[in-house]
Amino acid sequence: MTDAFDAVLPAQLPAPQEATAYAPSNIALSKYWGKRDAGLNLPLNSSLSISLAEWGTTTTILPADRDEVSLNGEVLDPASSFATKVVAYLDRFRRGQTLPVRVETVNTIPTAAGLASSASGFAALTKAIDGAFALSLPEAQQSMLSRYGSGSATRSFWHGFVRWDRGADPAGMDSFAVPVEAPWLDFRIALIKVDTGPKAQSSRDGMGHTVATSPLFPPWPDRAEADCAAIEAAVRAQDFATLGALAEANALAMHATMMAARPALTYLKAGSWQVLEALWQARAEGLEAYATMDAGANVKLIFLKEAGADVRRLFPAAEIIDPFGYSP
Ligand code: DP6
Repeated sequence: MTDAFDAVLPAQLPAPQEATAYAPSNIALSKYWGKRDAGLNLPLNSSLSISLAEWGTTTTILPADRDEVSLNGEVLDPASSFATKVVAYLDRFRRGQTLPVRVETVNTIPTAAGLASSASGFAALTKAIDGAFALSLPEAQQSMLSRYGSGSATRSFWHGFVRWDRGADPAGMDSFAVPVEAPWLDFRIALIKVDTGPKAQSSRDGMGHTVATSPLFPPWPDRAEADCAAIEAAVRAQDFATLGALAEANALAMHATMMAARPALTYLKAGSWQVLEALWQARAEGLEAYATMDAGANVKLIFLKEAGADVRRLFPAAEIIDPFGYSP
Protein backbone atom coordinates (compact mmCIF):
# COMPACT_ATOMS: atom_id res chain seq x y z
CA MET A 1 0.00 0.00 0.00
CA THR A 2 1.23 3.54 -0.77
CA ASP A 3 2.84 5.19 2.22
CA ALA A 4 1.34 8.67 2.40
CA PHE A 5 4.64 10.29 3.34
CA ASP A 6 6.62 8.53 0.58
CA ALA A 7 3.89 9.47 -1.87
CA VAL A 8 4.05 13.22 -1.30
CA LEU A 9 7.59 13.94 -0.05
CA PRO A 10 10.84 14.13 -2.03
CA ALA A 11 13.16 11.15 -1.42
CA GLN A 12 15.70 13.42 0.30
CA LEU A 13 14.80 16.39 2.45
CA PRO A 14 17.09 19.43 2.32
CA ALA A 15 18.87 20.70 5.47
CA PRO A 16 16.29 22.43 7.67
CA GLN A 17 15.97 26.20 7.77
CA GLU A 18 14.13 28.27 10.36
CA ALA A 19 10.36 28.36 9.84
CA THR A 20 7.41 29.50 11.96
CA ALA A 21 3.73 28.71 11.48
CA TYR A 22 0.44 29.32 13.25
CA ALA A 23 -2.70 27.16 13.25
CA PRO A 24 -5.98 27.83 15.05
CA SER A 25 -7.59 25.25 17.28
CA ASN A 26 -11.03 24.00 16.23
CA ILE A 27 -14.23 22.69 17.74
CA ALA A 28 -16.24 20.05 15.91
CA LEU A 29 -19.92 20.86 15.38
CA SER A 30 -20.30 17.39 13.89
CA LYS A 31 -17.94 15.04 15.69
CA TYR A 32 -15.21 12.60 14.71
CA TRP A 33 -15.49 9.62 17.07
CA GLY A 34 -14.18 6.24 15.95
CA LYS A 35 -11.52 5.01 13.52
CA ARG A 36 -11.80 2.55 10.66
CA ASP A 37 -7.99 2.13 10.61
CA ALA A 38 -5.92 2.98 13.67
CA GLY A 39 -2.54 2.70 11.89
CA LEU A 40 -3.51 5.19 9.16
CA ASN A 41 -5.71 7.12 11.62
CA LEU A 42 -8.71 6.98 9.30
CA PRO A 43 -12.09 8.06 10.68
CA LEU A 44 -15.33 6.12 10.41
CA ASN A 45 -17.21 9.32 9.58
CA SER A 46 -16.70 12.82 8.20
CA SER A 47 -16.77 15.77 10.61
CA LEU A 48 -17.23 19.54 10.46
CA SER A 49 -15.65 22.19 12.67
CA ILE A 50 -15.31 25.89 13.35
CA SER A 51 -11.81 27.24 13.93
CA LEU A 52 -11.01 29.34 16.97
CA ALA A 53 -9.33 32.34 15.28
CA GLU A 54 -6.42 33.55 17.43
CA TRP A 55 -6.72 30.64 19.85
CA GLY A 56 -4.22 28.12 18.60
CA THR A 57 -0.57 27.15 18.36
CA THR A 58 2.54 28.82 16.97
CA THR A 59 5.39 26.45 16.15
CA THR A 60 8.95 27.33 15.16
CA ILE A 61 11.48 24.87 13.77
CA LEU A 62 15.20 25.66 13.86
CA PRO A 63 18.27 23.70 12.79
CA ALA A 64 19.92 22.05 15.82
CA ASP A 65 22.60 19.55 16.79
CA ARG A 66 20.08 17.15 18.25
CA ASP A 67 16.28 17.05 18.51
CA GLU A 68 14.90 19.30 21.21
CA VAL A 69 11.26 20.12 21.97
CA SER A 70 9.98 23.02 24.03
CA LEU A 71 6.42 23.87 25.08
CA ASN A 72 5.46 27.40 26.12
CA GLY A 73 9.13 28.32 26.64
CA GLU A 74 10.11 25.25 28.67
CA VAL A 75 12.48 22.63 27.22
CA LEU A 76 10.87 19.21 27.68
CA ASP A 77 12.35 15.93 28.80
CA PRO A 78 12.82 13.94 25.55
CA ALA A 79 11.00 11.04 27.23
CA SER A 80 7.88 13.16 27.96
CA SER A 81 4.78 12.17 26.05
CA PHE A 82 4.59 15.53 24.23
CA ALA A 83 8.23 15.43 23.05
CA THR A 84 7.94 11.76 22.07
CA LYS A 85 4.88 12.46 19.91
CA VAL A 86 6.49 15.48 18.22
CA VAL A 87 9.69 13.55 17.39
CA ALA A 88 7.76 10.47 16.21
CA TYR A 89 5.77 12.74 13.87
CA LEU A 90 8.95 14.43 12.58
CA ASP A 91 10.43 10.99 11.93
CA ARG A 92 7.57 10.18 9.56
CA PHE A 93 8.86 13.04 7.40
CA ARG A 94 12.60 12.39 7.90
CA ARG A 95 12.31 8.65 7.12
CA GLY A 96 15.72 7.74 8.51
CA GLN A 97 17.57 10.88 7.43
CA THR A 98 19.64 12.62 10.13
CA LEU A 99 18.15 16.11 10.23
CA PRO A 100 17.95 17.21 13.88
CA VAL A 101 15.79 20.20 14.74
CA ARG A 102 14.63 22.26 17.66
CA VAL A 103 10.82 22.52 17.83
CA GLU A 104 9.38 25.40 19.83
CA THR A 105 5.65 25.15 20.49
CA VAL A 106 3.68 28.01 21.98
CA ASN A 107 -0.03 27.65 22.67
CA THR A 108 -1.91 30.93 22.43
CA ILE A 109 -4.85 29.29 24.14
CA PRO A 110 -4.75 30.37 27.78
CA THR A 111 -3.49 27.24 29.54
CA ALA A 112 -5.99 27.86 32.31
CA ALA A 113 -8.84 27.40 29.84
CA GLY A 114 -7.89 23.73 29.65
CA LEU A 115 -8.59 23.65 25.94
CA ALA A 116 -5.12 23.47 24.43
CA SER A 117 -5.49 20.91 21.72
CA SER A 118 -3.49 18.46 19.66
CA ALA A 119 -5.44 19.78 16.65
CA SER A 120 -3.71 23.16 16.44
CA GLY A 121 -0.46 21.58 17.63
CA PHE A 122 -0.12 19.04 14.83
CA ALA A 123 -1.43 21.46 12.20
CA ALA A 124 1.11 24.14 13.19
CA LEU A 125 3.86 21.51 13.39
CA THR A 126 3.01 20.25 9.89
CA LYS A 127 3.07 23.80 8.48
CA ALA A 128 6.39 24.53 10.20
CA ILE A 129 7.88 21.27 8.85
CA ASP A 130 6.62 22.23 5.39
CA GLY A 131 8.45 25.55 5.69
CA ALA A 132 11.60 24.21 7.36
CA PHE A 133 12.18 21.59 4.66
CA ALA A 134 11.01 23.82 1.79
CA LEU A 135 8.29 21.33 0.84
CA SER A 136 5.56 23.73 -0.36
CA LEU A 137 2.96 20.98 -0.15
CA PRO A 138 -0.62 22.00 -0.98
CA GLU A 139 -2.70 22.53 2.19
CA ALA A 140 -4.85 19.50 1.36
CA GLN A 141 -1.74 17.28 1.47
CA GLN A 142 -0.55 18.89 4.69
CA SER A 143 -3.98 18.27 6.17
CA MET A 144 -3.84 14.62 5.03
CA LEU A 145 -0.40 14.10 6.64
CA SER A 146 -1.38 15.88 9.88
CA ARG A 147 -4.00 13.15 10.33
CA TYR A 148 -1.16 10.83 11.42
CA GLY A 149 -0.50 13.20 14.33
CA SER A 150 -4.13 13.70 15.31
CA GLY A 151 -7.35 13.39 13.34
CA SER A 152 -8.77 16.72 14.46
CA ALA A 153 -5.56 18.43 13.22
CA THR A 154 -6.74 17.90 9.63
CA ARG A 155 -9.37 20.63 10.26
CA SER A 156 -6.96 23.22 11.72
CA PHE A 157 -5.39 24.42 8.43
CA TRP A 158 -8.10 27.00 7.75
CA HIS A 159 -10.13 29.60 9.62
CA GLY A 160 -13.92 29.41 9.60
CA PHE A 161 -15.91 26.24 8.92
CA VAL A 162 -13.94 23.20 7.78
CA ARG A 163 -15.07 19.70 6.77
CA TRP A 164 -12.89 16.60 7.12
CA ASP A 165 -14.05 14.05 4.53
CA ARG A 166 -13.70 10.49 5.70
CA GLY A 167 -12.62 9.41 2.19
CA ALA A 168 -12.85 5.96 0.62
CA ASP A 169 -9.25 5.08 -0.33
CA PRO A 170 -7.97 2.21 1.85
CA ALA A 171 -4.59 4.01 1.92
CA GLY A 172 -6.28 7.16 3.22
CA MET A 173 -4.94 9.48 0.50
CA ASP A 174 -8.39 11.10 0.18
CA SER A 175 -9.02 11.54 3.91
CA PHE A 176 -8.23 15.20 4.54
CA ALA A 177 -10.10 18.41 5.28
CA VAL A 178 -11.39 21.17 3.02
CA PRO A 179 -12.54 24.66 3.94
CA VAL A 180 -16.30 25.27 3.75
CA GLU A 181 -16.42 28.67 2.09
CA ALA A 182 -19.31 30.09 4.09
CA PRO A 183 -18.26 33.03 6.26
CA TRP A 184 -20.83 33.83 8.93
CA LEU A 185 -19.76 37.08 10.55
CA ASP A 186 -22.27 36.99 13.42
CA PHE A 187 -21.31 33.47 14.51
CA ARG A 188 -19.92 33.31 18.06
CA ILE A 189 -18.49 30.66 20.38
CA ALA A 190 -18.38 30.76 24.17
CA LEU A 191 -15.97 28.57 26.09
CA ILE A 192 -17.29 27.68 29.52
CA LYS A 193 -14.62 26.32 31.77
CA VAL A 194 -15.78 23.49 33.99
CA ASP A 195 -12.59 21.60 34.72
CA THR A 196 -9.03 22.27 33.60
CA GLY A 197 -7.32 19.21 35.11
CA PRO A 198 -5.86 16.49 32.87
CA LYS A 199 -8.51 14.32 31.24
CA ALA A 200 -9.11 10.81 32.52
CA GLN A 201 -8.47 9.21 29.14
CA SER A 202 -7.13 10.55 25.83
CA SER A 203 -9.67 10.89 23.04
CA ARG A 204 -7.68 8.26 21.14
CA ASP A 205 -8.09 5.67 23.92
CA GLY A 206 -11.65 6.80 24.63
CA MET A 207 -12.81 6.32 21.06
CA GLY A 208 -11.06 2.95 20.81
CA HIS A 209 -12.80 1.74 23.95
CA THR A 210 -16.17 3.05 22.74
CA VAL A 211 -15.89 1.39 19.31
CA ALA A 212 -14.79 -1.89 20.89
CA THR A 213 -17.38 -2.16 23.67
CA SER A 214 -20.35 0.20 23.32
CA PRO A 215 -23.61 -1.45 22.16
CA LEU A 216 -24.78 2.04 21.16
CA PHE A 217 -21.81 2.61 18.83
CA PRO A 218 -22.92 0.65 15.71
CA PRO A 219 -25.50 3.22 14.54
CA TRP A 220 -23.12 6.15 15.20
CA PRO A 221 -21.06 6.28 11.94
CA ASP A 222 -24.10 6.53 9.62
CA ARG A 223 -25.86 8.98 11.92
CA ALA A 224 -22.71 11.11 12.22
CA GLU A 225 -22.22 11.11 8.44
CA ALA A 226 -25.83 12.29 7.97
CA ASP A 227 -25.43 14.92 10.71
CA CYS A 228 -22.27 16.20 9.05
CA ALA A 229 -24.06 16.72 5.72
CA ALA A 230 -27.09 18.33 7.40
CA ILE A 231 -24.87 20.62 9.50
CA GLU A 232 -22.97 21.73 6.42
CA ALA A 233 -26.26 22.50 4.66
CA ALA A 234 -27.42 24.53 7.68
CA VAL A 235 -24.10 26.44 7.73
CA ARG A 236 -24.43 27.25 4.03
CA ALA A 237 -28.07 28.33 4.49
CA GLN A 238 -27.18 30.29 7.67
CA ASP A 239 -30.05 28.44 9.35
CA PHE A 240 -28.87 28.87 12.93
CA ALA A 241 -31.72 27.07 14.74
CA THR A 242 -31.24 23.95 12.61
CA LEU A 243 -27.45 24.08 12.92
CA GLY A 244 -27.55 24.55 16.70
CA ALA A 245 -30.07 21.78 17.34
CA LEU A 246 -28.15 19.34 15.13
CA ALA A 247 -24.75 20.19 16.65
CA GLU A 248 -26.04 19.78 20.20
CA ALA A 249 -27.79 16.49 19.38
CA ASN A 250 -24.68 15.19 17.62
CA ALA A 251 -22.47 15.97 20.64
CA LEU A 252 -24.89 14.37 23.09
CA ALA A 253 -25.22 11.28 20.89
CA MET A 254 -21.42 10.94 20.85
CA HIS A 255 -21.36 11.17 24.65
CA ALA A 256 -24.18 8.61 24.84
CA THR A 257 -22.08 6.09 22.90
CA MET A 258 -19.33 6.56 25.51
CA MET A 259 -21.65 6.24 28.49
CA ALA A 260 -22.89 2.92 27.09
CA ALA A 261 -19.31 1.61 26.75
CA ARG A 262 -18.35 -1.21 29.12
CA PRO A 263 -17.01 -0.06 31.49
CA ALA A 264 -18.72 3.30 31.01
CA LEU A 265 -16.71 6.29 29.90
CA THR A 266 -17.72 9.85 30.57
CA TYR A 267 -15.77 13.07 30.20
CA LEU A 268 -18.69 15.17 31.45
CA LYS A 269 -18.74 16.22 35.08
CA ALA A 270 -21.42 17.56 37.40
CA GLY A 271 -20.38 21.09 36.35
CA SER A 272 -20.94 20.24 32.68
CA TRP A 273 -24.51 19.16 33.44
CA GLN A 274 -25.10 22.32 35.47
CA VAL A 275 -24.09 24.39 32.44
CA LEU A 276 -26.38 22.31 30.20
CA GLU A 277 -29.33 22.65 32.56
CA ALA A 278 -28.86 26.41 32.84
CA LEU A 279 -28.62 26.62 29.05
CA TRP A 280 -31.73 24.50 28.47
CA GLN A 281 -33.68 26.58 31.01
CA ALA A 282 -32.59 29.80 29.28
CA ARG A 283 -33.40 28.32 25.89
CA ALA A 284 -36.92 27.49 27.06
CA GLU A 285 -37.16 31.20 27.88
CA GLY A 286 -36.01 32.23 24.41
CA LEU A 287 -32.18 32.23 24.35
CA GLU A 288 -30.89 30.90 21.03
CA ALA A 289 -27.68 29.16 22.07
CA TYR A 290 -26.63 25.52 21.79
CA ALA A 291 -23.96 23.41 23.46
CA THR A 292 -21.24 21.04 22.31
CA MET A 293 -18.72 19.06 24.37
CA ASP A 294 -15.63 17.06 23.40
CA ALA A 295 -13.39 14.63 25.28
CA GLY A 296 -13.39 16.83 28.37
CA ALA A 297 -15.75 18.44 30.85
CA ASN A 298 -15.76 21.97 29.40
CA VAL A 299 -18.80 23.16 27.49
CA LYS A 300 -18.71 25.26 24.34
CA LEU A 301 -21.74 27.27 23.27
CA ILE A 302 -22.56 28.48 19.81
CA PHE A 303 -24.82 31.47 19.27
CA LEU A 304 -25.22 34.56 17.09
CA LYS A 305 -23.90 37.99 18.01
CA GLU A 306 -27.31 39.30 19.09
CA ALA A 307 -27.46 36.69 21.88
CA GLY A 308 -24.03 37.76 23.20
CA ALA A 309 -25.26 39.93 26.10
CA ASP A 310 -27.63 37.19 27.34
CA VAL A 311 -24.91 34.52 27.13
CA ARG A 312 -22.55 36.78 29.07
CA ARG A 313 -25.22 37.40 31.74
CA LEU A 314 -25.87 33.68 32.12
CA PHE A 315 -22.19 32.64 32.10
CA PRO A 316 -20.16 35.67 33.25
CA ALA A 317 -16.82 33.82 33.14
CA ALA A 318 -17.26 32.59 29.54
CA GLU A 319 -14.57 33.41 26.97
CA ILE A 320 -16.29 34.63 23.83
CA ILE A 321 -14.65 34.02 20.47
CA ASP A 322 -15.47 35.74 17.20
CA PRO A 323 -14.27 33.10 14.71
CA PHE A 324 -14.40 35.40 11.69
CA GLY A 325 -12.97 38.43 13.48
CA TYR A 326 -9.31 37.38 13.52
CA SER A 327 -6.62 39.51 11.99
CA PRO A 328 -4.32 37.22 9.97
C1 DP6 B 1 -14.16 14.47 20.68
O1 DP6 B 1 -8.35 14.20 16.98
O2 DP6 B 1 -7.89 14.05 19.45
O3 DP6 B 1 -12.65 16.17 19.91
O4 DP6 B 1 -7.10 11.23 15.95
O5 DP6 B 1 -6.87 9.88 18.01
O6 DP6 B 1 -5.67 12.08 17.83
P1 DP6 B 1 -6.89 11.26 17.44
O7 DP6 B 1 -8.15 11.95 18.11
P2 DP6 B 1 -8.54 13.47 18.26
O8 DP6 B 1 -10.11 13.30 18.57
C2 DP6 B 1 -11.00 14.36 18.63
C3 DP6 B 1 -12.30 13.88 19.18
C4 DP6 B 1 -13.30 14.96 19.51
C5 DP6 B 1 -14.24 15.23 18.34
C6 DP6 B 1 -13.68 16.03 17.19
O9 DP6 B 1 -12.81 16.91 17.38
O10 DP6 B 1 -14.17 15.79 16.07
